[in-house]
Amino acid sequence: MQDIRTFHPRRGRMSPTQLDALGRLGPVYDLPEGPLDATTLFEGRPVALEIGFGLGDATVEMAQADPGTGIVAIDVHTPGVARLLLAIESLELDNIRVVLGDAVELLRDRIPESSLVAIRVFFPDPWPKARHHKRRIIRPDLVSLMASRLIPGGELHCATDWAEYAESMREVLSAEPLLREAPADDGLRAPRPMTKFERTGLDKGHAVSDLVFVRV
Ligand SMILES: C[S@@+](CC[C@H](N)C(=O)[O-])C[C@H]1O[C@@H](n2cnc3c(N)ncnc32)[C@H](O)[C@@H]1O
Repeated sequence: MQDIRTFHPRRGRMSPTQLDALGRLGPVYDLPEGPLDATTLFEGRPVALEIGFGLGDATVEMAQADPGTGIVAIDVHTPGVARLLLAIESLELDNIRVVLGDAVELLRDRIPESSLVAIRVFFPDPWPKARHHKRRIIRPDLVSLMASRLIPGGELHCATDWAEYAESMREVLSAEPLLREAPADDGLRAPRPMTKFERTGLDKGHAVSDLVFVRV
C-alpha cells in the first residue's frame, strides 16, 4: 500500500516567516506522539481529518464555522503547512492540529479504527494519465483504510473538479462494503467552503462533484 505514493515530493519555497512558523509553531500544533486518542485530543470534541489541505483556507473556515469539532489537517507541502500554522496562531483557533506528512502513513500507523467523525478529501491530485491512476488517493485499498478509521455514521467527503476522477471515485466508494452513499442533501451538513483548487477548476469551466459516503 505504501509503495505507491499519492504525491510527488516537491520542495516548496519558504519565506523566512514561514520557516520560523514551522520551527516555532509546528511542534505546538502537531499531534501528540503515538496513536491518536480521539477522546482527549480536543477535550472530547469529535475529530475530523482533512487530507491534503493545500493552503488551509477552507480548513480555517470549517474550524471557525464548527468549533465543536476538532480538525486534524495533514499535507506534505511545507509552505501550506507554515501558512496554516500562522493562521491558527493569529486567529487563536483551538480546534486544529496540523501534521506535515503522508496521510496514508498517519491513517495506517497512528489512527485507530473507528476514531474519526469525518474524513475530508477536497480536490485531491487527479493524476489524469492512466498510468498514474494508481497514485490516486481515492483508490480501493486507501478507501478501505479510510472507512475503517471512521466511526459508524462518520462520513467520507470527497470533492473533485475532474469529471473522470469523479466517476472513478463513485465506483470505488460504492464498492467499499463499509460505506453507503449519503442522501444528496440531508440538510445536516454545513456547506463546504470554496478551496483554491476548486476556484481554479471553476475558472477553467470544470463542473464540481461532491461525493459523501457514510460508514455503516
Ligand atoms: C490538488 S491539491 C488540493 C489542495 C486543497 N484541498 C484545495 O482544494 O485547494 C492536493 C493536496 O494534497 C496533498 N497530498 C497529496 N497526497 C497526500 C498525502 N498522501 N498526504 C497528505 N497530503 C497529500 C498535496 O500536497 C496537495 O497539497
